[in-house]
Amino acid sequence: MEEEDLATLLAAANPDRGRRLYIQCRACHTLVAEGNQLLGPNLLGFLDRPAGTAPGYEYSEALLASDVTWTPETLDHWMRSPSEVIPGNKMIFAGIRRARDRADLIAYLQQATTAD
Ligand code: HEC
Repeated sequence: MEEEDLATLLAAANPDRGRRLYIQCRACHTLVAEGNQLLGPNLLGFLDRPAGTAPGYEYSEALLASDVTWTPETLDHWMRSPSEVIPGNKMIFAGIRRARDRADLIAYLQQATTAD
């Protein structure tokens, strides 16, 4: 099945729908300032940052050694298949198959992780 490219999907993305899809991430990630480190790192401000740089979180060696920077593109790929983007990372997540779901989530995270 052919999928639209990310730029096209992002242009039409729905952040409210993304907020609901974020339920899948919420058990392991906070987004607010001074948010707790849960099983996964706090994600406030993570976009445009190199992977593995949230203060006070103990990342896997694999994530620390990666040279990924978080952009809509790398995040899209990560949510589709974390183990493919950074093999050996410790985020236990099967991945989100639908490109539109990932685009809506990216639109939500762009808002939710930059607002203070
Ligand atoms: C079962 C818990 C769990 C779930 C569910 C989960 N994550 Fe994670 N996430 C983690 C862990 C643990 C790490 C740290 C991985 C490492 O250090 O190898 C991580 C790392 C990340 C990172 C890298 C952050 C950084 O500072 O480099 C991003 C981005 C991320 N997750 C996004 C998401 C998104 C978006 C979702 C929902 C679609 C999600 N995660 C669902 C546990 C989870």
